[in-house]
Amino acid sequence: MFTRISVFATTKILNSLSTLRNIQSYSAVMSKFDLPDRLKGNEKSVWVEYIQLALKYKPLNLGQGFPDFHAPENVTEALASVTTSDNPLLNQYTRGFGHPRLVNVIAKLYSKLLNRNLDANNEVLVTVGAYEALYTAFQGHTNPGDEWIIIEPFFDCYVPMVKCVGGVPRFIALKPRTTKGPLSSADWVFDRQELESLFNKKTKGIIINTPHNPVGKVFTLDELQFIANLAKKWNTLVISDEVYEWLVYEPYKHVRIATLPDMYERTITIGSAGKTFSVTGWKLGWAYGPENLLYNLKVVHQNAVICYYFLNVYFITFLKDENLKKAAEILMKWKSQQ
Ligand SMILES: Cc1ncc(COP(=O)(O)O)c(C=O)c1O
Repeated sequence: MFTRISVFATTKILNSLSTLRNIQSYSAVMSKFDLPDRLKGNEKSVWVEYIQLALKYKPLNLGQGFPDFHAPENVTEALASVTTSDNPLLNQYTRGFGHPRLVNVIAKLYSKLLNRNLDANNEVLVTVGAYEALYTAFQGHTNPGDEWIIIEPFFDCYVPMVKCVGGVPRFIALKPRTTKGPLSSADWVFDRQELESLFNKKTKGIIINTPHNPVGKVFTLDELQFIANLAKKWNTLVISDEVYEWLVYEPYKHVRIATLPDMYERTITIGSAGKTFSVTGWKLGWAYGPENLLYNLKVVHQNAVICYYFLNVYFITFLKDENLKKAAEILMKWKSQQ
């Protein structure tokens, strides 16, 4: 009896040891496939989490913003006419950094607005939404340990994009000028001393977003000038996220920081057709800036996205409308008639 128990116990122990060893070797094998360190901390996304919650509880979803009105007909017709065109090339790969006709139109538009001649081939990059433009900018311009100044509240992807390349986000919050009486978006300001104290030798750049999501603040010339002076003093970049550039109402005026003295050289400006044309699902964005800065974005882009089908579609839209500004005006007029 004693012997039998002992053999039984020994077998059990051996089995558990072998199970343990198996578990250990299994976890050693599997840990090889864990999320790489550079992505740790980025597992959560408001898009994923809030959309799941919205599906479950069916609330009014203020988490993800998009227009709930149709795109103007000339925009959707342009898409239809391109996809059903007799020319099979319109449904094929195109130039990786943006269809020549599209980058030309974008360059023409911003050349006028910036009062300088943009080289369409070297100073414009078409991307999968502004999102990809932001991604290529952070990927292309960050070494581990580089600091990026981010103004709170901010569009959610800025921080994970900085962190996954080993960058370090440094935060400054917009704060209300007063706590009494009605507040407008213009009452949300950054403390100038605090911003100044964030700049240092490790600062790679600052990202600004004007008009601002979610506050709606339109940064003033004076505020942008202050930021520009710090960027020049510390020799840093500015990423200017201007996806809402056409949604500015009187008496406010959209100021492009790239137009301030000696700022074009250090600014990457990002735009998007999604908001302007009420076609956020089409995901067409762009970045423009000096050739040397855009080069880094292109290196990232060419190894990830290569080329984007909607380029083909969109260039027709842009050509039909001559330029973005005119298209935005058509959209606004059409919207006010609804
Ligand atoms: C401030 C800001 N930047 C960038 C984006 C991304 O734009 P896109 O849809 O063109 O990728 C958004 C979208 O909501 C945004 O609000």
